[in-house]
Amino acid sequence: MKRWTLDLDHESPTDSPRAAEVVKALRDGMLVGVPTETVYGLAADATQPDACARIFSAKRRPRFNPLISHVASFDAATEYGYFNDDALKLAEAFWPGPLTLVLPKKPGSPICDLATAGLDSVALRVPAGLVMRFLSEQIGGPLAAPSANVSGKISATTADDVVADLGDKIAYVVDAGPCPIGIESTIVACLGDPPQILRSGGVSREAIEAVLGRSLQDPEPEAGAAPQAPGMLLSHYAPSASVRLDAADVKPGEALLAFGPKPPRSHGNAVATLNLSPTGDLTEAAKNLFSGLRQLDRTGAHTICVQTVPETGLGEAINDRLRRAAAPRGTAMQRS
Ligand code: TXA
Ligand code: MG
Repeated sequence: MKRWTLDLDHESPTDSPRAAEVVKALRDGMLVGVPTETVYGLAADATQPDACARIFSAKRRPRFNPLISHVASFDAATEYGYFNDDALKLAEAFWPGPLTLVLPKKPGSPICDLATAGLDSVALRVPAGLVMRFLSEQIGGPLAAPSANVSGKISATTADDVVADLGDKIAYVVDAGPCPIGIESTIVACLGDPPQILRSGGVSREAIEAVLGRSLQDPEPEAGAAPQAPGMLLSHYAPSASVRLDAADVKPGEALLAFGPKPPRSHGNAVATLNLSPTGDLTEAAKNLFSGLRQLDRTGAHTICVQTVPETGLGEAINDRLRRAAAPRGTAMQRS
């Protein structure tokens, strides 16, 4: 595995001699760890079934769980999916950015069936992260990329996280530093009326509803025919430690994932403490969430206890990840 370190404040991916090598690796069907503004992605050419198969086996991800295709622009996205009025409004408001749209797949789309898990819908995203867009433009097509973590485990927000999980499975990792948002994209399905929020994420529900001028629907877990994000059902984002939510106190031997200025009772018991945001800022907390969980997990504590995070704005996505991290493990559960 090779690492391409890129300081995006001072250099453009275009100028780097490494760019051609990474583009060639992708064209050859290899996997590349690619930063986006949300989390690092495990990218491959979405039109090559063999390349997409490598993603599923590297992550140990079930093949029924479809991948997001990343494209360089709205215009490129229109080649692969049908945009209704809601989808147009959302793309206009939030692309490039942390929003994924699930749309009816255009017939004849070159995105392979493995990437869409054989569904007649396709998940499309134009990320704000420059590197993913640049690489998609260079290969002249969509890049399939799930989060660059082992399936069911904590998402990767640094190149070192990617290397720790998948270093022996990838040709390259592009290291552009920590991801500025730190939590995955919000997924909205625009397949019927009203649109459904399949996964909370980097764009808040409130911001999406303000653009649409109405409420988003939550998918009903029991509605067999309703579109769901197949990877979003149960345990996920799981550290090795168990996770205890809404901790008002710290028990001996626990590590503490704190939030806000007020520590919980008996916080002196904590074997390690990390505060997601000492001022209680949800944007800062999202950015620190996965790296904080990874860091506390490395201490070997048997339990990570977590202070309550409010459910507003990005808090919805943070709490979604925390609840999945705390969910019972080890049963036959779907993971992405
Ligand atoms: O921020 C992100 O979204 C990151 C970066 C790398 O872009 N990607 C990411 O991918 O989180 P992944 O694979 O970890 O999560 C994608 C989710 C899965 O839960 C999958 O089931 C859902 O998107 N999905 C993909 N295609 C879908 C479709 N056609 N219908 C419903 N859900 C879909
Ligand atoms: Mg994931």
